[in-house]
Amino acid sequence: MKKQRGLLINRKNSLLKPIGIFDSGLGGLTVAKEVFRFMPHENVIYFGDTARVPYGNKSKETITRFSTENAIFLKSRGVKLIVVACNTSCSLSLPILKKRLKMPIIGVINPAVKKAVEISKSGRIGVIGTNSTINSKAYDKRLKMLDRKIKVFSKSCPLFVPLAEEGWLDTDITYRTAKMYLDYLKLKNIDTLILACTHYPLLKKIIKKVMGKKVELIDSTSEVARAVKATLKQLGSLNEQKKKPGYQFYVSDEATHFIKVGEKFLGRKISCARKV
Ligand code: DGL
Repeated sequence: MKKQRGLLINRKNSLLKPIGIFDSGLGGLTVAKEVFRFMPHENVIYFGDTARVPYGNKSKETITRFSTENAIFLKSRGVKLIVVACNTSCSLSLPILKKRLKMPIIGVINPAVKKAVEISKSGRIGVIGTNSTINSKAYDKRLKMLDRKIKVFSKSCPLFVPLAEEGWLDTDITYRTAKMYLDYLKLKNIDTLILACTHYPLLKKIIKKVMGKKVELIDSTSEVARAVKATLKQLGSLNEQKKKPGYQFYVSDEATHFIKVGEKFLGRKISCARKV
């Protein structure tokens, strides 16, 4: 009897453990927002590596080192699952993270790729992301694995990240930048465009304006949240207790800018972001 009670308490405690999410900065908040929406009772810890952003122009070695440190930090906070809410980290270091951390880890690539293949009618799919993501060809490989006939057209859009981090989501400069990057993809007659960077959903309005109505934009945020929920359910770790969840935010640099812009991204107040 005593043992059974102990097991029940242990199970309850493990359900209450938070979900950990990390990104190089603010962009992963677009994923966090969907995690909050899909799993309203889950506690969440978010870490933004604001001191070292951007990752998108760094080497595999550096990105793997940063990503491993971020994941170890979240693990040390007792999270039950980690979401790597950064396409650059996923493209270059997800398999290594999974091997090193030995715990449930979900990335952002697979959910987006599956969705894109599902909805593309012409099989002509565009991918936009940071330099490191595009150069890694992680999306091309995954798309082709699902369907060999798919034609992939990729373009890195490095200036999108600072524009989003600056909160310039709908300005003339952002529009002109988007046009310069995306005109190449317009010529390729794609019908689906994967936003392979967690910052880009913030620029969706402008990207849509440039690409036109006929191109379907895939941002992986809600697909990732669905995948997290399915995984937790499968593991028996989904917290469905109807209690108000706790959200904690951590950053690696001064928090003022993160809080100011982050509140815009999340559409809710960030009462505190601790520097670690
Ligand atoms: N959030 C990162 C990503 O999804 C982009 C920002 C960066 O370059 O660090 O790739």
